[in-house]
Amino acid sequence: MKLSVSGRAVAAAVVAATTLLAGGTVADATPAPLPAAAPDIPVANVKAHLTQFQSIATANGGNRAHGRPGYKASLDYVKARLDAAGFTTTIQQFTYSGRTGYNLIADWPGGDTNRVVMAGSHLDSVSSGPGINDNGSGSAAVLETALAVARAQYKPTKHLRFAWWDAEELGLVGSRHYVNSLSVGNRATISGYLNFDMIGSPNPGYFVYDDDPTIEKTFKEYFAGLGVPTEIETEGDGRSDHAPFKSAGVPVGGLFTGASRTKTAAQAQKWGGTAGVAFDRCYHSSCDTTSNINDTALNRNSDALAHAVWQLSS
Ligand code: TRP
Ligand code: ZN
Repeated sequence: MKLSVSGRAVAAAVVAATTLLAGGTVADATPAPLPAAAPDIPVANVKAHLTQFQSIATANGGNRAHGRPGYKASLDYVKARLDAAGFTTTIQQFTYSGRTGYNLIADWPGGDTNRVVMAGSHLDSVSSGPGINDNGSGSAAVLETALAVARAQYKPTKHLRFAWWDAEELGLVGSRHYVNSLSVGNRATISGYLNFDMIGSPNPGYFVYDDDPTIEKTFKEYFAGLGVPTEIETEGDGRSDHAPFKSAGVPVGGLFTGASRTKTAAQAQKWGGTAGVAFDRCYHSSCDTTSNINDTALNRNSDALAHAVWQLSS
């Protein structure tokens, strides 16, 4: 859901109206082509994916964990949606703790494959719950952004790749496997990796990873435009799938709304919510269900994700 009309869109509309009113060609007044703005990501669509992840967990012993049937069912759901939208999907298999792991990679055809912009999220849950905020939220928002790329038939200058990782909860296993499987030359083609792990926490904060300056600025400017203050992410740097990319020298960034750490009074003042309570009191527990989501946070972070994907790949 878009909360405001961008100045750029207004400016473009004014130019178009002026051109029409003039009734002729006004070549001198024609502005340089503007980079395409990201579309609004419908939060209802993101939530519909969360409902699917919840149903999958419920039908498979209450979780979507590595090596369990709920993980593979989640992957099959995401892959089917991407295949239908025209992505080139690849399942990368590995073995961890005696069970097969599956990463899902989706390439959007076109763009400069020597300059790849990636957005990813872990699709596995812990075994103790359905993992809807951690990390159905990131998985659903990355999926809906990919589907928005297809709906817009976006033709970015750079190449777009989306990823869903297995076994993050067991130590960033899937994402590390992917990075290790790339040749050194292939690693150098990735201009940036954007990570989304827990972006709909029920008592949310708005945290931006303090990593690559360009990526960080892109997110910060988006939230500034909404009038939402952000803070630098400090709840365990390196605790998600951007870490293997960063170690390999890839510029990284990402968003986070908080896990087991407690929201301070100052944070409740600026963001609302409840001071003295965890950002996500259902972190890694059975109550991380579809009830464990703040829709406003999920909406803002999904739109910020799409904004960064569009802007950084244009
Ligand atoms: N990755 C952690 C998990 O899945 C959650 C987490 C803790 C996190 N601290 C973080 C995610 C900082 C991103 C950034 O359990
Ligand atoms: Zn987790």
